[in-house]
Amino acid sequence: MAHVSIIGTGNMGQAIASVVSKGGNTVELFGSADKAQRITGEIVVLAVPYPAVAQVIAERGDQLAGKIVVDITNPLNFETFDSLVVPADGSAAAEVAAALPQSRVLKAFNTNFAATLASGAVGEAPTTVSIAGDDADAKALLAGVVSAGGLRAVDAGSLSRARELEALGFLQLTLAVGEKISWTGGFALV
Ligand SMILES: NC(=O)c1ccc[n+]([C@@H]2O[C@H](COP(=O)([O-])OP(=O)(O)OC[C@H]3O[C@@H](n4cnc5c(N)ncnc54)[C@H](OP(=O)(O)O)[C@@H]3O)[C@@H](O)[C@H]2O)c1
Repeated sequence: MAHVSIIGTGNMGQAIASVVSKGGNTVELFGSADKAQRITGEIVVLAVPYPAVAQVIAERGDQLAGKIVVDITNPLNFETFDSLVVPADGSAAAEVAAALPQSRVLKAFNTNFAATLASGAVGEAPTTVSIAGDDADAKALLAGVVSAGGLRAVDAGSLSRARELEALGFLQLTLAVGEKISWTGGFALV
């Protein structure tokens, strides 16, 4: 059994918590008012907006040492909706990994709209969570939690692939905001 801590109680925090519980794993959720509460999970999901990640790391970096840290952000410029705010050859996940050298950092969930985590489907296809990271055991543990929760998980390669996952998340958001696809849809893997 895995124990998962989720920082952020919004759409994604709650949707991921449901997946974890559905699979028989345990979960604890932290809102922005729970800063004094210590993290106890071996997997910690940062389910907060990209600009809040640096703050969470500043507040809880010591507690994240030795843990699997999952970055789910789509680091968009929400003013222009026309670019990512991370370097073109980098990613938000690479920044998290650089800030947390004692954690095993994964990129996951950023290409899944919250509704598809709840429904388990994107159109006719099962919802697939793409997981990128440099530690095979960490990826396997998260994949196990995802698949126990009724979704598919795929190993998307090294943490360097976070750059492509973030580009894909950006494009998917662009399509949804432009009403070309619905928030219950998105890219599927078949
Ligand atoms: N929604 C989606 O379908 C989707 C899909 C893929 C990826 N994402 C990514 O998932 C992340 C979360 O998105 P969301 O849709 O769940 O956003 P949301 O519904 O707005 O929730 C964000 C949560 O983060 C919390 N938060 C903000 N700063 C915090 C801090 N310093 N410490 C602890 N909690 C903090 C907020 O708490 P308060 O309300 O108390 O401030 C809120 O509960 C974002 O990075 C987004 O890019 C979202």
